[in-house]
Amino acid sequence: MKRSICNWLTIVVLCFSVHVNADTPANCTYEDIRGEWEFHETERIASRKEVCDDNSVSTTKHTVYLKLEFPNIATDQHGNVGHWTIIYNQGFEVSINYRKYFAFSLYKQVGKQVTSYCDSTFPGWSHDVLGNNWACFKGRKVNRQQEKSFDETMVNNGKTHTVQPFLLESVPVNHNLIQMNVNKINMKQSSWKAKFYPHLMNLNTEDLIRMAGGRGSAIVNRPSTVPASEEIKEKVRQLPESFDWRNVNGINYVSPVRDQGKCGSCYIFSSMAQLEARVRIATNNSEQPIFSTQEVVDCSKYSQGCDGGFPYLIAGKYGRDYGVIADECYPYKGKNGKCSLPYNSTGTKCMKRSYTLHYHYVGGYYGGCNEELMLLELVKNGPITVGFEVYDDFTSYSGGIYSHDKSKDQWRNGVHFNPFQLTNHAVLIVGYGVDKQSGEKYWIVKNSWGKDWGLDGYFWIKRGNDECGIESLAVSVTPIP
Ligand SMILES: *[C@@H]1O[C@H](CO)[C@@H](O)[C@H](O)[C@H]1NC(C)=O
Ligand SMILES: *[C@@H]1O[C@H](CO)[C@@H](O)[C@H](O)[C@H]1NC(C)=O
Ligand SMILES: *[C@@H]1O[C@H](CO)[C@@H](O)[C@H](O)[C@H]1NC(C)=O
Repeated sequence: MKRSICNWLTIVVLCFSVHVNADTPANCTYEDIRGEWEFHETERIASRKEVCDDNSVSTTKHTVYLKLEFPNIATDQHGNVGHWTIIYNQGFEVSINYRKYFAFSLYKQVGKQVTSYCDSTFPGWSHDVLGNNWACFKGRKVNRQQEKSFDETMVNNGKTHTVQPFLLESVPVNHNLIQMNVNKINMKQSSWKAKFYPHLMNLNTEDLIRMAGGRGSAIVNRPSTVPASEEIKEKVRQLPESFDWRNVNGINYVSPVRDQGKCGSCYIFSSMAQLEARVRIATNNSEQPIFSTQEVVDCSKYSQGCDGGFPYLIAGKYGRDYGVIADECYPYKGKNGKCSLPYNSTGTKCMKRSYTLHYHYVGGYYGGCNEELMLLELVKNGPITVGFEVYDDFTSYSGGIYSHDKSKDQWRNGVHFNPFQLTNHAVLIVGYGVDKQSGEKYWIVKNSWGKDWGLDGYFWIKRGNDECGIESLAVSVTPIP
């Protein structure tokens, strides 16, 4: 999907179009963000703020100077030390002096041309760590040499990229082609099995066009995993050889598999699945909530509804700042809608929101992750959300340990043709194991493509070599039950 895209419709589109939607089309790297910043912040008096736009940042009450250094150290003008992380290529969050700041990186789009101004942000949100005293701010990277005024520095070094055109001329679903690919996969290797899913093929042209209406996404060089220390490795050696939160001494702590349908909302389903499982763990299964995904599609300003988003900003930040509600109060529709008040089926307004206490990337920041830290986090605290690259063969997965052999990818017009190489599907890791015969290690992962897909809605994927980037951006959250 878009980068956070995850929808099973991709199986159809992938054969016919270069379909790459985006979260936001900004394409900012760690190096773009690292450095010195000036945040111009409004008066810190608002309660939970839904809107931070150009109007709301027209007056500056506080100016915060920040140095964002490797790997995740933030320092302000008073010498306070905090931390920061980029969120994929979309923006960044800073926690310092008991306040949190988050903003998306600035970009402009004219037709297919997208220019990212990574030295500037859109108006963003700030509040203290208790969730009070909200303000809006805009950030600009400071270049001490040039001594330019805040507004002058604005966007002097934009990076432009072109959104991929959509090739939708031929939309009929070619069942034969898909069947051929399935046969090929099953002939070429035996570690995993592919199958043809007829129920994923019942799509009409409008579905496809709607899906293809997303914005162009960017190529991101994912951070590679960081090597684990000896101390961490020693802790990992004490973990069980296999583990599964669906069966811990006979007890299941994982909520049922759901189906995101045609909406690019995997990042919300994986977020809610994590919160649901961790509430079950924290309460010994006496609380078994199912949280609303549609409410996030309609109401979250930290993501783009059916056009994508990131678990860090949903299970983490949205859960922390706004809380989530019961699914029955705001049932899933699978398309973008207007944010409305939650009511239950008897017409009573739902008042209860459930909040996230802490959230962080495993490893402490985006780019600090590895298999060992994920194993420890998983066993100690519960399932973790991850993103990974979805290739076309993945959608036909039906069992075994998935891996993708890049050397067999097709080429078109001399260009490496794999429309989904850049997509980032968000899912929930619930366990791990080792294949008895081959000795191959794998993760056990909950998907959101319904129970009829894969292994009752789950899949296994190779573990230990950052397969499809799955060990590069794990998120951990602590819900308040
Ligand atoms: C995004 O930025 C990275 C790093 O600068 C670059 O390699 C990549 O090509 C960019 N993506 C697009 C679509 O321009
Ligand atoms: C957790 O729940 C199980 C199953 O209901 C029960 O047997 C066990 O005693 C509970 N544990 C605690 C610490 O209450
Ligand atoms: C709706 O909410 C009311 C008030 O909290 C509660 O009494 C009722 O059981 C709820 N109904 C359903 C179907 O959840």
